[in-house]
Amino acid sequence: MQEVTTIRALRAALAGAPRPVGLVPTMGALHAGHLSLAERARAECATVVMSIFVNPTQFGPHEDYARYPRPIEHDRELARAAGVDVLFVPPVEEMYPPGAASWVEVTGLSARWEGEHRPGHFRGVATIVLKLFLAALPDRAYFGEKDYQQLRVVERLAADFLPGLVIVPCPTVREPDGLARSSRNVYLTPEQREQATALYRALWHAQELLAAGERSAPALEAAMRRVLLAVPGLRLDYAAVVDAATLEPLRVVDRPARALVAARLGDVRLIDNLALQPPA
Ligand code: PAJ
Repeated sequence: MQEVTTIRALRAALAGAPRPVGLVPTMGALHAGHLSLAERARAECATVVMSIFVNPTQFGPHEDYARYPRPIEHDRELARAAGVDVLFVPPVEEMYPPGAASWVEVTGLSARWEGEHRPGHFRGVATIVLKLFLAALPDRAYFGEKDYQQLRVVERLAADFLPGLVIVPCPTVREPDGLARSSRNVYLTPEQREQATALYRALWHAQELLAAGERSAPALEAAMRRVLLAVPGLRLDYAAVVDAATLEPLRVVDRPARALVAARLGDVRLIDNLALQPPA
């Protein structure tokens, strides 16, 4: 595994590298979710690039940028073991040179849900993801369904700027009790860790009600809210049933849909989502 810290060195490492080239963008603190993306890339691509960059511009002023975990030595070993060929670990000035003033906005898909609760978040995500795409010029790029709205925003971004780049969605990797793997799970106290299972229980409850014939989106949302609000101390940001393509709220689940939840336990913010399959 080759490790590079500049865009110039990344380009040199990839010049003449066997194609297809697969890119796995991450912020590090790697866990089984990230590694599933790397393994998928390893299976589909001749050259696998992983980036580790805690992107300051996608964090709000009161969010966890400063305390975000950065276990780089452990990450390096996990990336190597996952078969990564090139690890790109740029310093902040490499991705945001002095005077950086250009931003990418994906309108529409960024507006609601995370976009509403984290103003500027998707502008930061879209900007860094386009910078990473332009630095590596991959054939394929791997993103988790765990961050479903991010995945949709990135699909739009790729279609608009780099047609031909294939975005590969990868299923959410979960703990045995259903909690989605996340770098932020390490912040949870043992009690909060237990309570955090409510997100997946709420999503699963909506899927079960749908399978039993409840097609009203507001009814499914109310059912998810009941599960979440039964947890003492949980602060709910949203529980929504949306069109899987547009992320607009649905009235009736009569097309591919997604249930989305976001909640805070103490100062830890968690998100999760589930595909809703209407009965045939
Ligand atoms: P990060 O949170 O490190 O996640 C990197 C990638 O791993 C994302 O595509 C995310 O959806 C995926 N991922 C995280 N947890 C997962 C899980 N439990 N199962 C499957 N995939 C999972 O998302 C980001 O970083 C950043 O916003 C980034 C795209 C790198 C831009 O800075």
